[in-house]
Amino acid sequence: MVCGYIVKSDSAQQKQYMIMKTGAERKNDMNGNLRCSIDIDSKTGKKQSVISTPHEILEYIDYICRIEKETFNPPWTKDDFLKELESLDSCSMVIMEEKEKILGYLFAKKAADEININKLCIHPDYRGLGYGKTLLGRFIGCIRGKCSRVFLEVAALNTPAIRLYKGAGFRINRTRKNLYADGSDGLEMVLDILQKPVHVD
Ligand SMILES: CC(C)(COP(=O)(O)OP(=O)(O)OC[C@H]1O[C@@H](n2cnc3c(N)ncnc32)[C@H](O)[C@@H]1OP(=O)(O)O)[C@@H](O)C(=O)NCCC(=O)NCCS
Repeated sequence: MVCGYIVKSDSAQQKQYMIMKTGAERKNDMNGNLRCSIDIDSKTGKKQSVISTPHEILEYIDYICRIEKETFNPPWTKDDFLKELESLDSCSMVIMEEKEKILGYLFAKKAADEININKLCIHPDYRGLGYGKTLLGRFIGCIRGKCSRVFLEVAALNTPAIRLYKGAGFRINRTRKNLYADGSDGLEMVLDILQKPVHVD
């Protein structure tokens, strides 16, 4: 099982998306094509990075859309996900079986000093097994020191999600009455991330 970022190349010639394992180093070559350094497991010597071709990423997005349709009403479409990936401020992460299938996904956007989690979902067959906790924990670990607060909105009756967020340190900031189309309330939750102190001589 791995967690990885979906990253895109800055190349103007061709769009390239890859899933890059957290901790792998992102580099662009002289032509702007995305290259990632490979993590080697120090014990086994096995290559660990998940590096996907643009074609594979589109297959993964199709797979994500199927999970999305089973879960949300209305679901995000393939275009919604691709637009999200296009956005300069987007940060997205997936949890997957090694090069096999996506178990869950998280899409977020950064605005100034704050990050908003817009989507978090685990495949229906894999819920309640700790994958949500792993994905969220890994995401928070990666953004620590890069923003001051993380926001999200959750349906007030979504007990599993609220429990997950509270466990990760989120607190309820305010209730938003009639937030959803069916008239139900939402909760705005926030996580304060401690910035590393800036040292000035
Ligand atoms: C919410 C969601 C992401 C949680 O992921 P998950 O992998 O199922 O959750 P985990 O197994 O990591 O468990 C995380 C916490 O939620 C609790 N939890 C999980 N399923 C639960 C359930 N059905 N009822 C109550 N609590 C539940 C766990 O006990 C755990 O809390 P604990 O550490 O205090 O025991 C997942 O259920 C999901 O995708 N739901 C549908 C989409 C959704 O609601 N997304 C959030 C929108 S804001």
